[in-house]
Amino acid sequence: MDFKEYYAKQLKLVENYLDQRTKKKGISRVDDAMLYSLQAGGKRIRPILLMATTEALGVKGYNYLPVACGLEMIHTYSLIHDDLPCMDDDDLRRGKPTNHKVFGEAMAVLAGDGLLTLAFEVMLEQKNVDGAVLVDAVREIAMCAGNFGMVGGQALDLDAEGKSISAEELRKLHSAKTGALFIGAVRAGARLAGAKDAELLALTKFADLLGLAFQITDDVLDVEGDTVALGKNVGSDEKNKKTTYVTLYGLEAAKELGKKTIAEALECLEIFGERADALRGIASMITERKN
Ligand code: IPE
Ligand code: IPE
Ligand code: MG
Ligand code: MG
Ligand code: MG
Repeated sequence: MDFKEYYAKQLKLVENYLDQRTKKKGISRVDDAMLYSLQAGGKRIRPILLMATTEALGVKGYNYLPVACGLEMIHTYSLIHDDLPCMDDDDLRRGKPTNHKVFGEAMAVLAGDGLLTLAFEVMLEQKNVDGAVLVDAVREIAMCAGNFGMVGGQALDLDAEGKSISAEELRKLHSAKTGALFIGAVRAGARLAGAKDAELLALTKFADLLGLAFQITDDVLDVEGDTVALGKNVGSDEKNKKTTYVTLYGLEAAKELGKKTIAEALECLEIFGERADALRGIASMITERKN
């Protein structure tokens, strides 16, 4: 498989679906704020991960664009809120001024709320799936995005600012704030494509390790990344006195840990054979990424 080609194709599918599904405007300027962040680019890694997961189970990912793109809306809302002055207080995201810099804080909060809510509307528009299966898939995403997952992790992250936390606590925090949406992507894809118990278990472990490696790399890039390539300002974690994989282990050890985590993640894919090549491609992209 030519992964670059695969990724470019999936990216286009996601962009097109998001554009088409957000054409109809609501009643206020909150739509402008929502679209500003949604259409600012981004790697779209979570929807592509969901689609690659169904492919590992023998079903083409493009069948699931509504659920995949709903997940991207949830992720985009999380970024808008993460950048707010009361959270990480950042002013650059996806290469553009952050949402609150352009629309003001109140509108940015509402843009996040709007995207989170629209996400569920869009996910429930998914066709060609048994109703009960769709409920299971969307429920996976809801659980991973909420207080047991991403939102809970963001709260742990804020509470840990300025404190020294253990490696175990940091693992828990990273797994929740970032890993959970990766788990949601993979488990939703697995449910939609009818994964068996053993497959679901292996995919969940894969996603947990992938998400952890993704956030380790994010911590590394916050220190040694390039603002232009990254599309966000470096040094945000230091400014906010966060404990990260870099502050805890140092740059080189953090990078090694990222690679080791990806190697472990890849082991979980053995039972899927060649069908999991897209998932393998995503995994290798993660430690090498520059943005
Ligand atoms: C950024 O996610 C937030 C983290 C969980 C580290 P991405 O790096 O996937 O951001 P986009 O979507 O490509 O902008
Ligand atoms: C954020 O982690 C994870 C989210 C749930 C949005 P970070 O705060 O490290 O993400 P960036 O570096 O701002 O993208
Ligand atoms: Mg943050
Ligand atoms: Mg942040
Ligand atoms: Mg970061």
